[in-house]
Amino acid sequence: MNNIKKKLIIPLMFTAICPATLNATVKKSENHPDSVYLLSYATPSNPKEGIRLAYSIDKKNWINIGNNHSFVRSDFGTWGAEKNMYSPSVMQDTDGTWYAVWSLNNRTPQFATTLTHDLWTWKPQDYPFVTKGENVIAPVITKENGQFVVTYKTSGGDIYRTVSSDFKNWSNPEKTSEENYKSKLTQAIVNGIEREGEVNRVAWHIVDELITNVEAAAFRAQRDNERMADDEWRFKGLKDVKASLSINLNDTKAISSDLIGIFFEDINYAADGGLYAELIQNRDFEYSNSDRGEWNSKTSWSLQGEGCEWTIETDNPIHANNSHYSILNTTHTGGQLINNGFDGITIKKGEKYNLSLFLRSIDKNGQKIRVSIKNGTEVLATSTFSATPAWKQHKATLTAKSAADNASLCIEPLSEGKVGIDFVSLFPQNTYKKRTNGMRADLAQLLADLHPRFVRFPGGCATHGNGIDNIYHWKNTVGPLHERKGNFNIWGYHQSMGLGFYEYFQFCEDIGAEPLPVLAAGVPCQNSSRGGDGQQGGIPMEEMDEYLQELLDLIEWANGDAKTSPLARMRAEAGHPKPFNLKFLGIGNEDLISDVFTERYNYLCRGIRAKHPEITVVGTVGPFFEGSDYEYGWQIAKEEKLPIVDEHYYNSPGWFINNQKFYDKYERNSTKVYLGEYASKGNNLENALAEGLHITNLERNGDVVVMSSYAPLLAKEKHTQWNPDLIYFNNTEVKPTVNYYVQQLCGQNSGSQYIYNQLNVENNNEAVRIRVASSVVKDEKTGDIILKLVNCLPSSVKLDINLGTIEGYQSTASKSVITGNYNERNLRPVVSEIEVSDNFDYELPKYSFTVIRIKKDTKKK
Ligand code: AHR
Repeated sequence: MNNIKKKLIIPLMFTAICPATLNATVKKSENHPDSVYLLSYATPSNPKEGIRLAYSIDKKNWINIGNNHSFVRSDFGTWGAEKNMYSPSVMQDTDGTWYAVWSLNNRTPQFATTLTHDLWTWKPQDYPFVTKGENVIAPVITKENGQFVVTYKTSGGDIYRTVSSDFKNWSNPEKTSEENYKSKLTQAIVNGIEREGEVNRVAWHIVDELITNVEAAAFRAQRDNERMADDEWRFKGLKDVKASLSINLNDTKAISSDLIGIFFEDINYAADGGLYAELIQNRDFEYSNSDRGEWNSKTSWSLQGEGCEWTIETDNPIHANNSHYSILNTTHTGGQLINNGFDGITIKKGEKYNLSLFLRSIDKNGQKIRVSIKNGTEVLATSTFSATPAWKQHKATLTAKSAADNASLCIEPLSEGKVGIDFVSLFPQNTYKKRTNGMRADLAQLLADLHPRFVRFPGGCATHGNGIDNIYHWKNTVGPLHERKGNFNIWGYHQSMGLGFYEYFQFCEDIGAEPLPVLAAGVPCQNSSRGGDGQQGGIPMEEMDEYLQELLDLIEWANGDAKTSPLARMRAEAGHPKPFNLKFLGIGNEDLISDVFTERYNYLCRGIRAKHPEITVVGTVGPFFEGSDYEYGWQIAKEEKLPIVDEHYYNSPGWFINNQKFYDKYERNSTKVYLGEYASKGNNLENALAEGLHITNLERNGDVVVMSSYAPLLAKEKHTQWNPDLIYFNNTEVKPTVNYYVQQLCGQNSGSQYIYNQLNVENNNEAVRIRVASSVVKDEKTGDIILKLVNCLPSSVKLDINLGTIEGYQSTASKSVITGNYNERNLRPVVSEIEVSDNFDYELPKYSFTVIRIKKDTKKK
């Protein structure tokens, strides 16, 4: 047997025995002990592995539960350097609850706490501070006189003891003696390897359930990782698949017409250097090493020629938020300061560019400064300004006499003396909808073509930021450009905030989408590497009033009356007197649902809903479709009766194929779902089909899932931190992916009513049946009926479609099909016509996504 076959047969055999026989394999036998010893241990050589478990009937022969399964891992700190667990200590209380503590590293004066009722689902972790200036080593948990007691060592060799009655609030640690430190560590050999851990005696059924859970999780993981590359074997000999689709046009339910939207985050240079059309990089000399280690105020600028000295100064800046500027000190002319934009400046022949810059003569008045767009030595456009003793903004319109992909902007003093230069901007007039300070037209058009119903902004991680200082504050992003406060970008570069909240709201309006701003829940990213404690932390509760006010101010700024509200007047002065009619506000982004988070999140959500009941608050339920943040996030949402929560998951195509009923089991009249981030981890047709398949399932559940957005949206080539993305681009080209075209077809063909339909795939193999899917919706605005048909099989499917009657509809429908090999990337829809009738046939090509739009016949009554 060759290796490929071997590799495939194992999963296939596994599939064959599961899940039907899964129950059989876990069928309880009476031949077991009442209780066993349970060893909990970590792996010091790999502290990321967290707690593993093994059981024994005699403390001699240990059997590990799952194949090195990690039951809980440390979630403390940033990826890479942190998320380590050392010396876990686990204790079961008399009510059956398990409590665990561990140390995090060799410096932090914190330890980790968590609890679980079944050793399977663990509560989100907390990291209480214990001793200032001291670390925590090998904490041990016990219970004495009804109180939780943690004793621990420090690097200095001291022993401390802290107590808590609720496992949340811990007393100031007190020094204690060595004899009070009661390590419970035991040595044990598990699978031939010596381990050190703690032993508890547990009822057998606890271990039995864990074994069942681990086996089921392993089965699901295997199934969810199914890939189309294996289809040749999985579906060997499959042909002539037949199916029928019965549609009952009179059997409908209302679904969200806002299902397809977009999530715009400044990741992968999506904003500066991307959608935001500014051509000058580091236009305000505010880049710094907090953006990126090697960056500073001079980044992306250079001095060429002789006779000129270039320094960066901060005295008397153009604005306190913009403290750095350049000084050119010219002793004899010939030097010039050059900006190369974002990978060069792209200039189009005959187009007009708005040039602006601030100048200040430092020792001579009236110094002449020439600013030119150059392609090498060729001058494409130029203008000359006279500097004045006080800062003054100068403006000119430049018309390019020829095109260039790698132009630069050159600032040349034409006379001797010292001149200050700041906030140098070169902006195409030809932006999307010709907005000043607007969006790059080709990219914006692609977004508009998705027909998104909403735009989520600004993050993602960009909103909660890397440490408290990096939390996104919307007020820093509005007002005159040179007064905005840039910040480092969590994705490793700089955010100028040129594309701020005003531009975002304006763009939403321009593309007919609702704004869905998402602001931090008073905590930064749980994976933060900055901010001292390396963990979620949080805005101090005594400052949360001010932070809540900032969020309330956003609603006032967006929706207030400019005649009476100073905040709304700011909006009007920026160019939008009418309210923006904001309806949604997201709080939090896939945060760790810790106590620190919950306190702040509830405070914000309650505060906003009390003051603005008309605003739909969108909550957050963690980064995955399962796990503690998901469970506890949902628990809060239900307790607080939040209208919508934001789910995220990035899964393999197999997950989307094998979890199509994910939302069918959700409560219908409860908190709704915004699937704010999802993708199937690739840009092949396989991925696009998995995502299209998912959308058919979202539509069927469109009474629960009210919004969705693929993520991430944009990625600049050579500056991509996250793959895959929906649209790639460089300075001159836009490259929509096949995933984009599936989103586009769905955005352009969404409905407000779901039409019940029965798909019957004539095949005994469930793996075949679940790979064909349908969704039928009605767009009530046009009256059109839209069929979405997905075929994830390597073989075509002959489909017999029964519509009942198409009276009142046109018999020629439009048909858009994306098809190819599962691993192809550069595919786009082919649009043609199809004759439809009460009962018609359509052959779904292998690996295809089809949309058939049957138009209402407006001529017939
Ligand atoms: O979409 C990219 C990132 O994925 C988002 O910023 C974050 O929310 C998620 O982890």
